[in-house]
Amino acid sequence: MNKLIRPAAALAAVFFCATAAMADEALRRDAASLFGRLEPVSPVVLASPEVELGRALFWDERLSLDGKTSCGSCHFARDWGADRMKFSLDARGEFTSRHSPTVFNTMGQSTLRWLGDRRDGAHQAEGSLTGSLGFSSKQAAVAALSRLHYADLFRAAYPNQAEPLTTENYGKAVAAYEATLVTPAPFDRFLAGDDSALDARQKEGLRLFVSTGCGTCHAGPLLGGDLFQRFGVTREYWQATKSERIDVGRFAVTKKEEDKYVFRVPMLRNVAKTAPYFHDGSVERLDEAVRIMADLQFGRTLDEAETAAIVSFLDSLTGEVPAHYTRPRKLPAE
Ligand code: HEC
Ligand code: HEC
Repeated sequence: MNKLIRPAAALAAVFFCATAAMADEALRRDAASLFGRLEPVSPVVLASPEVELGRALFWDERLSLDGKTSCGSCHFARDWGADRMKFSLDARGEFTSRHSPTVFNTMGQSTLRWLGDRRDGAHQAEGSLTGSLGFSSKQAAVAALSRLHYADLFRAAYPNQAEPLTTENYGKAVAAYEATLVTPAPFDRFLAGDDSALDARQKEGLRLFVSTGCGTCHAGPLLGGDLFQRFGVTREYWQATKSERIDVGRFAVTKKEEDKYVFRVPMLRNVAKTAPYFHDGSVERLDEAVRIMADLQFGRTLDEAETAAIVSFLDSLTGEVPAHYTRPRKLPAE
């Protein structure tokens, strides 16, 4: 009898593996059409003088009104480039009006910030000089840069310019550094063909993420970052988030009625590491944020198992904190 069962069991096992592989392949095709892969940054780019300058500028806390605030003061390495606090303290000692998101992978987005009111990384960084870093004017920032002996680093980064020490180049260099903060994750390995990069629950979560429609807004290689959408399609968002203050969203920038409560769809790369959630950090836990999204955007109630599966899929978007996301050992004039 054994002789008969063994081949049958073996055949069943082969059949099972083949159907599982086919299911994985179909899932990969669906995911590839909606999302996309992140590629690691080449060491040549990392070593460029522009990136090195940008890294120094990003971490130099002397370059601020209080002499204690750098970009890294609100975008911590231990928080995957974000801030664990709901709001962050700026160089004037005031709290930011929105939650600090991660800076990792951000340069792939079509606009920046919760309201999409910055064109790109250079525009955002230049704005920080007179914003959260507290300088009274761009001239004051340039004076600080030359006092701190940055002229040589600017010259090395922009060798063809007569007067390279400008706030425009400040923005460009910081953005060049930020563009190297890319964090490939298990999800990218799955997309590249490695079935074992995601476990069964993560695959189920990915299936649900797609079938529920999350991918219509959270699309592209960053799973978001490109669209403007109303937060709270089925009802007012603050009923679910219990936000203390109602933020009018894009309306604050455009003054158009249809932009009320519209925000830029955030990307979901590393989202498991960047609590608290939403523009005001009003929600502490990722499972809660996922449930709220299904409720507010679709009027759909996810059960516990569905929520847990989506959360474990989101976990597969966690990459490693880049090794060069630290203050350089030595800054100019140190
Ligand atoms: C005082 C805290 C603070 C400091 C200092 C700070 N940031 Fe931010 N950062 C924030 C907050 C808060 C936001 C979200 C603001 C908004 O959307 O209205 C943000 C948003 C960003 C974004 C947009 C991310 C996205 O996905 O849209 C980037 C990029 C960024 N910061 C980079 C920097 C750089 C570069 C510096 C230094 C020049 C810097 N930050 C300094 C708090 C800070
Ligand atoms: C109609 C577009 C849309 C759909 C569909 C959608 N989202 Fe969102 N999502 C948004 C917007 C807009 C925000 C930002 C809201 C805010 O904070 O102001 C957001 C925020 C989030 C956040 C918080 C991110 C952070 O860093 O704070 C998570 C997590 C999230 N969505 C997951 C999901 C999941 C899971 C689904 C499917 C159940 C989903 N979303 C469906 C538009 C959408």
